[in-house]
Amino acid sequence: MTTETQTLLRDHVDMRMIVANGDDKGSDRNAIVKLDPDHPGFRDRGYRARRNAIAQIAMTYEPGSPIPSAPYTELEHGVWQTIWRALGPAHREHACAEYLECLERLDFDTDHIPQLDEVSQKVEAISGFRLEPVAGLVEPRVFLESLAQGVFLSTQYIRHHSTPLYTPEPDVAHEIIGHAVTLASKRLAELNRLFGEAVKRTTRTDDFDRLARIYWFTIEFGVLRENGRVKAYGTGLLSSAGELAEMHKAELRPLDLEAAANHVYDPTHYQSLLFCASSFDEMYGMLRDFLLRW
Ligand SMILES: [Fe+2]
Repeated sequence: MTTETQTLLRDHVDMRMIVANGDDKGSDRNAIVKLDPDHPGFRDRGYRARRNAIAQIAMTYEPGSPIPSAPYTELEHGVWQTIWRALGPAHREHACAEYLECLERLDFDTDHIPQLDEVSQKVEAISGFRLEPVAGLVEPRVFLESLAQGVFLSTQYIRHHSTPLYTPEPDVAHEIIGHAVTLASKRLAELNRLFGEAVKRTTRTDDFDRLARIYWFTIEFGVLRENGRVKAYGTGLLSSAGELAEMHKAELRPLDLEAAANHVYDPTHYQSLLFCASSFDEMYGMLRDFLLRW
C-alpha cells in the first residue's frame, strides 16, 4: 500500500498516533496510545490518560451495542466551543444547503462535545448509518469497506486544548462536524455506502488507490455551485474553518471523476486543487452512476 493511501482519510495530515498492542514496555505500562514528541498533547499527562481511556472504549467495544461515553473535561468542551465560534460564520458563508439542513436536523449543543452514541442514534434514525468507535489509525480498506454496511468508524477523542483549531490527526470534531452531519443526508449516506460496496469489489491496489482519490476529492474535499457561488459539501472542508477560508484560493476544475482518480494530492497542506460540480444534483448523479458501474 502506498504512503498516499495510508494517510488517506485518517486524515488530512499525517497520522502520528500509534495504538500499541497493550504489551508496552515503556515507562507507563498502561499506555496504549503513543503520541509523537511534537504532538500538542505529548507533555500533558492528563490528556494522555484520557486518550488511553478513550482508546480502551474502542478496543473493548462490541459492534451494535451502545457506545460508552468518553470522559471529556471542561477544557475540552471549551475546545468544542472555540471550534464552533470559528465554524458558525464559516458554515453560513461556505457550506452547501444540503449540509446546513442536516446540521439543523442534528441540532448539536455547541457548548458540549456530544457523545458518539447520541450522534449515532440521531444519524441512524435518518439514514440508517451508525457510528462505531475506533482508537485511531484504521487501514483505509477497513474504513472504506465498513461504509458498505452503513458503519462509519469514528475516533472519539478531541484534539489538545492548546491547539483548538488544529489537529494533526482526525478527532471527534472532524468526525461529527464533517462526517456525521453529511451522513444525516440520505443522498450523501447513499454515496458513502456505494463507495464501500465499490471498494469491496476492488481487488487491484491501483484501482483501490483510484477509488480512494475519488473519495478524497468528493466526500472529503468536494465543492459545488449554488446560485453561482462555490459551496462545500466535503467533510474535510466543513470541519475546518481554515480549510473553508482557503477554499476559494484553490484551482477549481469541473467535476471529472476520471481526472480525480488520477490526481495525486498532498494531504499535509490546504488543498490547492478542488473539483467543482455545477450543482448538488450533478454531483450526486455523476458519482452514483460511476460507483454503481465500478
Ligand atoms: Fe475525514
